[in-house]
Amino acid sequence: MENASMSEEKVEEEEQIVNPWEVAAKDGGKIDYDKLIDKFGCQRLDKALIERVESLTGRPAHVFLRRGVFFAHRDFGDILDAFQKGNKFYLYTGRGPSSESLHLGHLIPFMFTKYLQDAFKVPLVIQLTDDEKCMWKNLSVEESQRLARENAKDIIACGFDISRTFIFSDFDYVGGAFYKNMVRVSKCVTYNKVVGIFGFTGEDHIGKVSFPPVQAVPSFPSSFPHLFSGKENLRCLIPCAIDQDPYFRMTRDVAPRIGYHKPSLIESTFFPALQGETGKMSASDPNSAIYVTDSGKDIKTKINRYAFSGGQDSIEKHRKYGANLEVDIPIKYLGFFLEDDDELENIRAEYGAGRMLTGEVKQRLVQVLTEIVERHQRARAAVTDEMVDAFMAVRPLPRMFD
Ligand code: TYM
Ligand code: TRP
Repeated sequence: MENASMSEEKVEEEEQIVNPWEVAAKDGGKIDYDKLIDKFGCQRLDKALIERVESLTGRPAHVFLRRGVFFAHRDFGDILDAFQKGNKFYLYTGRGPSSESLHLGHLIPFMFTKYLQDAFKVPLVIQLTDDEKCMWKNLSVEESQRLARENAKDIIACGFDISRTFIFSDFDYVGGAFYKNMVRVSKCVTYNKVVGIFGFTGEDHIGKVSFPPVQAVPSFPSSFPHLFSGKENLRCLIPCAIDQDPYFRMTRDVAPRIGYHKPSLIESTFFPALQGETGKMSASDPNSAIYVTDSGKDIKTKINRYAFSGGQDSIEKHRKYGANLEVDIPIKYLGFFLEDDDELENIRAEYGAGRMLTGEVKQRLVQVLTEIVERHQRARAAVTDEMVDAFMAVRPLPRMFD
């Protein structure tokens, strides 16, 4: 484990590990998300909340809500209550620019955030933690900033509305009101507390120990005076995968002590690695990941060669027993990205009964993913440097709630 040798997530030797730096199931099994909800103390996103989203926005729920990709939350109901009374909120999400390009797992929170922005018509701040990756990945300051700008292009390609979106790099933006909030937060968190939450050790440099307030304070509207001056009571909703939860447990613990609302969260499961659901798709292992820069041919090769199959190992056995859908990665991926509910149900039934073979399911998956990735590549090619500057300009957004 990189940093978290004493993390509170790792109470016993055998436990699964989920923190911002490592995701690993117990003994090569699957991540147990129910256990995670209990351990982190978040709430399950139930049907009633999803129906409220539909009725408040007048839109059908996003596939990621219908299929349980976003499965957990903290006080999401409070956001909806306030919204129902006419009080809007803002969205906050982020990306640690550790690699040149994003993989499909990274797209999940951004695709979902775009849906939330469109459905609720609310402003959005996106933090690029170039400082974080400079400290954790041993990148130079200049290289992390370059990656942040490259990643901003991929994020913009997800379709965010420039009249409601502010993207910022920590290296450029931290200071002023943002920094004052960092200091307010820092004064409330002891060294023992961060060691408990993040598992830092005496060998970790002090940059790591002092980083968590940087990720915490975009949860507070007063960190963005050019956007929210006079709206200090605005609530914040953070969409992210559940690996980021430790940062926001800390933030929620501190918020009331400095007179702020606790941010609400809506949290997703992980888009799994090609090799199986024991971990998340990770940029550090190229064979585990499909990147948004991959060609149709790359995708085909990776899926055919690496995607873990729940099919039987001979055609006779497969016809007789059918595929084990519980461990099958192509089925899992289709659950994220094949939008047609009927087709998905049909594939599950046919494959599970052994009438459809792994090769056929993989072929459909390659089509679905190639289409998404090619669409993304076209959108990204249209993002100019001027557009990046425009999204990252410190400016008011006068129409952000319209
Ligand atoms: P980062 O860059 O590691 O990840 C960016 C976002 O993608 C999510 N994610 C995944 N989601 C589904 N499946 C996966 N395999 C997968 N891998 C990553 C992450 O949970 C995250 O939502 N420290 C953060 C940057 C950050 C941030 C934030 C994230 C700053 N402020 C606020 C979320 C919300 C980071 O390094 O993320
Ligand atoms: N797992 C394969 C499937 O589900 C079954 C299989 C194994 C197979 N070896 C094969 C099918 C050789 C065709 C040819 O499709």
